[in-house]
Amino acid sequence: MTQLEDLVARVERWAALDRVAEPLARAVGRAVQPAPARDVLSGTVIGHPLHPLLTDVPIGAWTMAALLDLAGGPGTERAADLLVAAGVAAAVPTAATGLNDWSDTQGADRRIGLVHAIANSAALTCYAASLAARLQGRRGAGKALALAGYGCVTGGGYLGGHLVYARGVNVNRTAWRRGPRRWTDVLADDELAAGAPRRVQAGSVSVLLVRDGNRIDALDSVCSHMGGPLEQGSIDGGCVTCPWHGSVFRLADGAVVRGPATAPQPGYETRVEDGRIQVRRRP
Ligand code: FES
Repeated sequence: MTQLEDLVARVERWAALDRVAEPLARAVGRAVQPAPARDVLSGTVIGHPLHPLLTDVPIGAWTMAALLDLAGGPGTERAADLLVAAGVAAAVPTAATGLNDWSDTQGADRRIGLVHAIANSAALTCYAASLAARLQGRRGAGKALALAGYGCVTGGGYLGGHLVYARGVNVNRTAWRRGPRRWTDVLADDELAAGAPRRVQAGSVSVLLVRDGNRIDALDSVCSHMGGPLEQGSIDGGCVTCPWHGSVFRLADGAVVRGPATAPQPGYETRVEDGRIQVRRRP
């Protein structure tokens, strides 16, 4: 383990952070309760998490500003100032989407996310001060503050990457879950009561079965958002609501009706043969 990995592991275990993280996450969770706002901040409306997409804007702008500050010369000063300002403006919605995602995390992920947010907030503060200094003609101070901000945003970016690529936060939890290609026997037909969700095993995947009259719908039982158990969710209006963060999926095809999930649930075909329910992956 490298020293950097060791440092990150210590942050993951640093339980004292929970004293700040827990109430802050609850407050953020309350603030993003309205479904339309949550769907926008989560990226549900575009079918992809919004936060990683937005982070490219301030990081890109500030990277170019750093290059111009260090090697651009007097002719590029206005361009550098503009890039610093663009990064500051873009950092605000980027932070809002990040806070929304972070409010759904737990434990070590939440601690890392808190430090990630602190580092990026420090970066934003440095860049806002840098912009003010530049506008006052104090270019040396503006460059120094921008350089400090770049150090902070680089550290924050490292932790953001760690959250996604090392810890799997906000990745589609069903991406590798395929289900059986052939009809697979999962349950006796008379064991599935109408409206009562049931979790069954179909080959290597677990499947949620829901009966509505003669119709039987089948979706992957692991919520695509963060792995919540859909068989423990509520069924209403042809949809299932995840018990963890309230994502709503249409039972007929797994489409996301409400976020924070951004990826649909894999759905399965069903049939009844000789009194047994069978499922298979959709072609
Ligand atoms: S795990 Fe978050 S909505 Fe299902």
